[in-house]
Amino acid sequence: MDNDSRQQSLHEHLACWGLKRFTSDRDYFVWQRQQLSPADLNRLNAQVKRKREGDRCEEIAFYDLTAQPKILPVLCSQRYEYYEEIGLRVASRVGEAKAILDFGCGAGILTSFYARRYPEKEFVGVDRSPASIAIAEQKATELRLTNVRFDCVDIESAALPGSYDLILATHALVQAEKDPGIPSQSWETFGRGHGVRQQEAFEQRTGIGVRLNRLCEVLGQNGRMIVFEKTRQLARLVPFQRALASRGLSVVEQLESIRYQLVEEVADDGPFYVLQKGSATSIDWDESPEKDEGQPFNRAVLENKPNDPDAPLYENHWPSAQQAWEQLKARKVMKQTTRQEPDGRQLHVELGTSEGLTYLYCANTFDQRQLVIVDPSRTAMLETYYGEIISGSG
Ligand SMILES: C[S@@+](CC[C@H](N)C(=O)[O-])C[C@H]1O[C@@H](n2cnc3c(N)ncnc32)[C@H](O)[C@@H]1O
Repeated sequence: MDNDSRQQSLHEHLACWGLKRFTSDRDYFVWQRQQLSPADLNRLNAQVKRKREGDRCEEIAFYDLTAQPKILPVLCSQRYEYYEEIGLRVASRVGEAKAILDFGCGAGILTSFYARRYPEKEFVGVDRSPASIAIAEQKATELRLTNVRFDCVDIESAALPGSYDLILATHALVQAEKDPGIPSQSWETFGRGHGVRQQEAFEQRTGIGVRLNRLCEVLGQNGRMIVFEKTRQLARLVPFQRALASRGLSVVEQLESIRYQLVEEVADDGPFYVLQKGSATSIDWDESPEKDEGQPFNRAVLENKPNDPDAPLYENHWPSAQQAWEQLKARKVMKQTTRQEPDGRQLHVELGTSEGLTYLYCANTFDQRQLVIVDPSRTAMLETYYGEIISGSG
């Protein structure tokens, strides 16, 4: 089946779940208000808040609520492009696998798509939200799917039966979005130490350790795993990749960073991983910062630039700001502060001069970098900015 017909069949599949595609927030929210009452929206917002602050039970309650037939199409329509990006990528990589597990399948929107595409293969969807599993089973019956089964299991408390040659885990392994991950060794490097206890603590806090252990127990010899999680930030990407590597999984397809629209908002979640257990050939794990859009700083080019009094001469908010700062010639520091923040991160702020210009450089151990360069006549602006960062209001 070619890409176009695969895409067409995914659109039809999403339509049978009641999902609609929106490209304008305005149109989406008009539709949302037609589908859901203010009481529904209040209930949903309150549960989102409880999930953020709460424990495992609040998370299950959240997914149970979002599986309600009235709510599901409305919420999932926001993720229409996510289903396209992930659904089509996964569907084209099922390959020779015969037994496929979709861990954290939710209501089974994608699981049932894969099962429809590959009637000769056996699919199992697992989720700990009873309402999601009930909806998944109901839809599978409606679609007369005989090659998919849905089990309500919390894999943190129970082992999974069976053996699979392909395991899918998309937006299901690292739920703890509020966990910032592991900081770099200092504000001057993006590198992480190899502290075993720090890694263990990350795996325990986020639940990824036990989840991966359970999945690896049922992954057959040379089995593949397709994983897509919110791991764009290096602080989460590094311990996430190390968790995968330490369980004998290797990268067997060049990583690709996935970007998709949530109606008008852009989501940049990070790499799409195709992994294999016990693979003889593999691609190296990459722990370098993501490719960014920052420009190198070039003093010579600036001389010829007309001076816009309102704009800095140079500004870079990407990881490459570090290299631009390192390359500043004859740097003279006017003032600097390096300190430990209450949340554990180390922050460095520096105001200085280089070849007759004034710069402000700011870096922290969660990979944020910022370099701003101005004409000396605008030094006061950077002084103010420096003060704001130091006082925590910048
Ligand atoms: C964001 S949804 C993702 C659904 C689906 N994989 C997708 O790509 O659209 C995450 C799902 O993982 C499930 N989940 C999280 N931890 C789980 C666990 N320990 N055992 C079973 N399911 C879990 C949640 O209940 C939720 O339905």
